[in-house]
Amino acid sequence: MGQLERTMKTFGPTQENLIARAGKQLPGGIRNGGKRVKEQAEELRLSYRKAQEANRAKTDLINPLSHELPIPIHVIVGCGELLLDGAWGMLQENQKAIVVKMMQNACYLFDLIADLLELNRLDGGKARACFDKIDAHRFLGEVEAMARFMPKAEGVALHLKKPAGLPPLFSDWDRLKMILRKLVGNAIKFTKSGEITISAHFDPEEQMMEFTVRDTGFGIDKKDQQRIFDMFWQGNNSHARPFTGVGLGLYIVKRLAGQIGAKVEVESEGGKGALFRLKIPLRPD
Ligand SMILES: Nc1ncnc2c1ncn2[C@@H]1O[C@H](COP(=O)(O)OP(=O)(O)OP(=O)(O)O)[C@@H](O)[C@H]1O
Ligand SMILES: [Mg+2]
Repeated sequence: MGQLERTMKTFGPTQENLIARAGKQLPGGIRNGGKRVKEQAEELRLSYRKAQEANRAKTDLINPLSHELPIPIHVIVGCGELLLDGAWGMLQENQKAIVVKMMQNACYLFDLIADLLELNRLDGGKARACFDKIDAHRFLGEVEAMARFMPKAEGVALHLKKPAGLPPLFSDWDRLKMILRKLVGNAIKFTKSGEITISAHFDPEEQMMEFTVRDTGFGIDKKDQQRIFDMFWQGNNSHARPFTGVGLGLYIVKRLAGQIGAKVEVESEGGKGALFRLKIPLRPD
């Protein structure tokens, strides 16, 4: 959990009110103690206000940069693609390997920046979900295309299970896609062999759509399953190098899911792969 998040959680408005009220309601016999509590309440209120100001300053700084930051990375990746396509003459194998490495690192940097910008949007409170009719089949087709493009460990197979007759749903396409991108990205990152399966299921009774991402990777210990959605929380990911990330993915998933009225669940036993399930109402409330 980040410093700011911690401060907000500890000194958030509800607790702030509780502390202030506690200060007022202390019986006369412990008036001195009450005075101290009042002072502490004031200190806490000040810290909270400072944290809010720092958060606003951070948002104001990052917002104007949000369009500029990704541009140089697009240029690097674009030039890399041209080099690989032989636009300036065919490359030797060792030269290709260097260009691929350069592009992979640029993509990794892009993902990090995209996560920070997303976090900034979420914290700024300005990012509103944009609900529209979504054709579940077309959506899954796009998710599959995106997943096929992501580099996987050698021999890891990707499957898509798309039952016929899935109904359309009203949700936010971009947010849904980002959620699936992060879940599939994790499945790929933490799976050295076996398979990754993306599937969908419609529950007519509950009027819920379910998207699942299952992998046969390292899995997640039961004791860690509540913490994986916390900001900056990461397990022992030494097996997932070189691109370990910073532990923002599932935190963003949880926040985005909340915005579209969806829920994310995880099932896993350490060493036996993981299953992430996203449950979305066909229509938002
Ligand atoms: N499919 C999975 N299999 C095994 N462990 C997982 C899986 N998905 C998430 N985890 C565990 O949960 C932690 C948090 O995941 P999260 O996506 O938030 O962060 P990350 O992938 O480590 O970094 P980032 O998403 O910022 O690149 C991971 O570090 C990993 O320990
Ligand atoms: Mg991740």
